[in-house]
Amino acid sequence: MPLLEVDRVSKEYQTDGGPVLALRDVSLSVEPAEVIAVVGRSGCGKSTLLNLAGAMDFPTRGELRIEGVTTSGLDDAGLTRLRREKVGFIFQSFQLIHTLTVLENVELPVLLARGANARAKALERLRWVELEAYGDRLAHQLSGGQQQRVAIARALVHSPRLLLADEPTGNLDSATSEIVLKLLQRTAKEFGVAVMMATHGLESTAIADRVIRLRDGVLETSAIPALRHS
Ligand SMILES: Nc1ncnc2c1ncn2[C@@H]1O[C@H](COP(=O)(O)OP(=O)(O)OP(=O)(O)O)[C@@H](O)[C@H]1O
Ligand SMILES: [Mg+2]
Repeated sequence: MPLLEVDRVSKEYQTDGGPVLALRDVSLSVEPAEVIAVVGRSGCGKSTLLNLAGAMDFPTRGELRIEGVTTSGLDDAGLTRLRREKVGFIFQSFQLIHTLTVLENVELPVLLARGANARAKALERLRWVELEAYGDRLAHQLSGGQQQRVAIARALVHSPRLLLADEPTGNLDSATSEIVLKLLQRTAKEFGVAVMMATHGLESTAIADRVIRLRDGVLETSAIPALRHS
């Protein structure tokens, strides 16, 4: 079974200026351990697609299924559970809580879900991103690249099946971007997590198994081969 199925999905936003059709009849399916890069110009619908894939929002038409579960069939409690159990999110701006330590940031999703062994799980993930020595620092005392690695640790702390990354290297220089991209690739290959990443940077597509291009909300190519560094 595919991990994620996007089945003839359209998304329309209502604005003061009238409706905006952000996605039109998009279909794709994502397998475990796959890395998908979603590319296209600003406003083409990349973030919209990621938000729908992460059950943060519902499609206007069509449906999305995560491990066979249709997101629009769930109530709020069901959605919260689905997101907690299956989905991790990282963002361009890291979105760590600056008043918490690094370790506390990584623990937080487990504590919010009333899960067990939050500290041990957080330490294990911090070790995996090679930041175990930084657990006691406040999050804002880290470099951008380190903060994004903490965000990856936090996104993986509850062992999701799908990791959604919205411009994860948008605020990083190219050397730091490469470290973060390698971690995302390892996330897919070592843990079998499907990684879906919205990106402008051509270098980001080097880690992708598939590149998907959106143009004005329409999926242009379903499976062009990823551009790889030689
Ligand atoms: N909450 C919203 N309400 C109304 N319109 C929205 C909303 N979110 C996005 N849009 C519109 O939907 C379209 C797609 O936006 P989206 O954020 O998905 O693009 P994007 O590809 O992620 O762009 P960028 O590369 O700039 O991040 C745009 O026209 C945008 O203005
Ligand atoms: Mg976006």
